Amino acid sequence: MCGIVGYVGKKNAVQVVMQGLSRLEYRGYDSAGIAFLPNVGHATHLQKYQGQLSVLQNHIRELDPTAIMAIGHTRWATHGVPSDANAHPHKYGRVQVVHNGIIENYAHIKNQLLAEGHHFSSETDTEVIAHLIDQQLSLNKNPLDALRTVADILRGAYSLAISLDGDPHKLYFAKLRSPLLLGRSHDGVFIASDEFALVDFGPQVAELVDGDFGYISEDEVEIFSLVEKTTALRKLSWQPLRAVADQVSKGSFKHFMHKEIFEQPEAIKRALAGRVGDGKINLPGLGLDFSKAQVKRIHIVACGSAYYAGLVAKTDLEAMLKISVDVEIASEYRYRQTLTDEHTLVIAISQSGETADTLAAIEKALSLNASCMSICNVVGSAIWRKCEGSVGNLSLNAGPEISVASTKAFTSQIVVAKLLALALAKHLGGLSADEEVSKVRALLSLPHKITDLLGSDNMVRLLASNFIDHPKMLYIGRGDLYPIAYEGALKMKELAYIFAEGYPAGELKHGPIATVDSDMPVVVLFGNDDLMAKTLSNLSEVKARGAKIISIAPMNAELVQEDSDFFIGLDEVDPFVASLMSAVIVQLLAYHLCDLKGLDVDKPRNLAKSVTVE
Ligand code: F6R
Repeated sequence: MCGIVGYVGKKNAVQVVMQGLSRLEYRGYDSAGIAFLPNVGHATHLQKYQGQLSVLQNHIRELDPTAIMAIGHTRWATHGVPSDANAHPHKYGRVQVVHNGIIENYAHIKNQLLAEGHHFSSETDTEVIAHLIDQQLSLNKNPLDALRTVADILRGAYSLAISLDGDPHKLYFAKLRSPLLLGRSHDGVFIASDEFALVDFGPQVAELVDGDFGYISEDEVEIFSLVEKTTALRKLSWQPLRAVADQVSKGSFKHFMHKEIFEQPEAIKRALAGRVGDGKINLPGLGLDFSKAQVKRIHIVACGSAYYAGLVAKTDLEAMLKISVDVEIASEYRYRQTLTDEHTLVIAISQSGETADTLAAIEKALSLNASCMSICNVVGSAIWRKCEGSVGNLSLNAGPEISVASTKAFTSQIVVAKLLALALAKHLGGLSADEEVSKVRALLSLPHKITDLLGSDNMVRLLASNFIDHPKMLYIGRGDLYPIAYEGALKMKELAYIFAEGYPAGELKHGPIATVDSDMPVVVLFGNDDLMAKTLSNLSEVKARGAKIISIAPMNAELVQEDSDFFIGLDEVDPFVASLMSAVIVQLLAYHLCDLKGLDVDKPRNLAKSVTVE
């Protein structure tokens, strides 16, 4: 999604902002722009272009500019096509603005402004903000009062960075339901939508909260709250930057996605660290008096891969707790009449902690007095903060995930949800000491098992090379492997642009089998459990229709191997953790197919890392 970087200080602000924007490229964008002030008394320069940051960089290089302040933006189109005109910053009168989020009432505002004789140069929702602020300044309001008035008019979500002609030492900002933070170092002050933008400058950072607005200058920050409706300055809590440059480098890997697939053993070790030991599970810090009287049902809310991790979690939670668990797509849950009440535990699963629909689902659950918690990778993110006042959060500890396609966060989500299921079952007395020991042992075996499994990387690449020209694929599995079938298909769609479907294997004959022919490769997922024979029958059904079969199955599954065109053998693991082994292989398959097709692995078209709009 969109990225914002702003800087006022002693360094060349153009270089700082361009460097910051390059660190945000991973979020996905379609155009980029910058507004900068070369020096006091000069006019603001504005450059913005559709396409990669390199297009903007090439234009800027010709100017060789230095600047004392700049705001920059990478845009992911929502209102209006990707184009130079729709790229940010947007300028009107004295005002330059960059914006993340969506202004829901922009059409109404725009119509009013058009009626008043305003002309617009873009199709965006953002441009109305520049018009409104300029209008307020024309009424002789000072910039902060102008911002306060405009913030009252705007509906929706925004993080804003604003520069004003004739006000050369300050950058203004405002935040509502879209991430924004400030940074400060000895030579200047920063605004950014993501702390990765600042990794090259190592400042202290302070997260902004909804309703914050104010300004930064080279050595000063003034911040007020729209929510508290006072004119008092709000105090910020400055922390060292958590992100470090190493985390945003590919190391020896060609792509972040490949690196992150290979980081999974370490990520899982971190997810388990301090939470299991001596065959025992221990999840400190959750503020939940979990009893069946208090919690009568569980809702899991999430989007995309995180939703599929939720489907795996449902299997464990229901089996161990004997409490009904619904897994809900957050964009549906937020608008549906749900049975959420004070006896519901709502668990948000999210890598970024920023996903707009998941955030809104948690806000809805809180408003209905549910107990809310998150399984989340970004400590301090919006979803994290919402849950802090309720049950709390379980961190994935997976480290930053840069590739747009989720890999290590997905497997860590499953692992952490398994820990939660075990801890709650133990609390309710539904987990015997023997079971606890064996399940903890199974989890602890994973890093080692996945390290070994990653040895099949080359083999999976070779296998993938057979499917480069196939326009469609099917993934099937049963039990906790059908969510992995969904995940495999999603990975294939988003990375290799192959139309792929995931299905519970037993559901095929109720419709989708009609699409199966010799052009349809079918990936069949097997676990080492009593569903293997059933899945084998489903394999036979698609094979009889001419499909090429790629089986991912336990090494010793000879019957499966005999019936498959391609076979990837998995080391034996406890069925409790088997889904994670298959997950790694479907990730590798999609990764290699994408790379072999010469597509952009880390930034698939039309996608963004954090989906901060609904
Ligand atoms: C797919 C993928 C997405 C995310 C989804 C939720 O590879 O990455 O489907 O899983 O956008 O994102 P988070 O987990 O940040 O809420």
